Amino acid sequence: MALPSHRPRRTRQSDPWRRMVRETRLAPDALIYPLFVVPGRAVRHAVESMPGISQLSVDEAVKEAQAAAAAGVPAVLLFAAPEHKDAQASAALDPQGLAAQAIAAIKEACPQLLVWADVCLCGATDHGHCGHVTAAGAIDNDPSVATLADVALNYARAGADAVAPSDMMDGRVGAIRARLDGAGLAATPIVAYAAKYASCFYGPFREAAESAPAFGDRRSYQMDPANSREALREVLLDVEEGADLVMVKPAGPYLDVIRQVRDAVRVPVVAYQVSGEYSLIKAAAARGWIDERAAVLETLTGIRRAGADLVITYFAPEVARWLRA
Ligand code: PBG
Repeated sequence: MALPSHRPRRTRQSDPWRRMVRETRLAPDALIYPLFVVPGRAVRHAVESMPGISQLSVDEAVKEAQAAAAAGVPAVLLFAAPEHKDAQASAALDPQGLAAQAIAAIKEACPQLLVWADVCLCGATDHGHCGHVTAAGAIDNDPSVATLADVALNYARAGADAVAPSDMMDGRVGAIRARLDGAGLAATPIVAYAAKYASCFYGPFREAAESAPAFGDRRSYQMDPANSREALREVLLDVEEGADLVMVKPAGPYLDVIRQVRDAVRVPVVAYQVSGEYSLIKAAAARGWIDERAAVLETLTGIRRAGADLVITYFAPEVARWLRA
């Protein structure tokens, strides 16, 4: 039998070889850590479906942000679950509201840490939808876009280093850009949740952010998991409207979409390893069915290999510590 002349194993035979030919690297610089802020003081309320993650009052969110920054994580993504919810999403528009307070407090305590503010209506509306709802129960796109632009302006004025619209209304990136520019905030970037799918993997998040819709579902605004050409259309529209970064969400089940988006645009591509992806790993690890650290590093490497420049993950501080150790 002829000996093989091609032996890919040659460059796999030892750790130094494997390190040298490694194509994808994980670094703390690529990680963003989501935080859930709730009213009160000294509140650390564990999210049952996300072991290790808590809803935090502003003072505790500051501590969590400081710990993430100390671990080497460069940015947090802020979600607020205000107590008061109404049809106008007033809490998200209030300059003294929970999100605005949290942004200002974290920026004051850790000026070097970037604060990305999630911009949506679902956490502040009584019906829990991401846009306004008509009397007939439909999502009213254009008035929603106007409100979202006001919310983005409120968060940018509070000191957010980026605004991240996650609502999936048509035209919101352009409207937010115009509103920020008109208010002297031309330097504030927009991170667009550009290809956001109507996914079952957001289940645990909705407990954490108290943002489950009271009726219906989000399929008239979030994307059908079956579609990828449509993801490119969404992404290209957001870039055209002025998005500085674009996001694919969830990450793990949509690696092909991440790759196609990376090949189609020149702005940085962000992928969001969402709550359900986190909970799956945590649940299996708790039963001893999977090695948690290996699973986390493998999923994040896969997401980066698919083409994501940056990854939003609930594992961020832990991973940053592992990578530095
Ligand atoms: C709000 C929003 C959601 C997530 C981020 N922003 C939930 C949703 O759209 O229902 C999901 C994040 C996660 O599951 O980790 N629009």
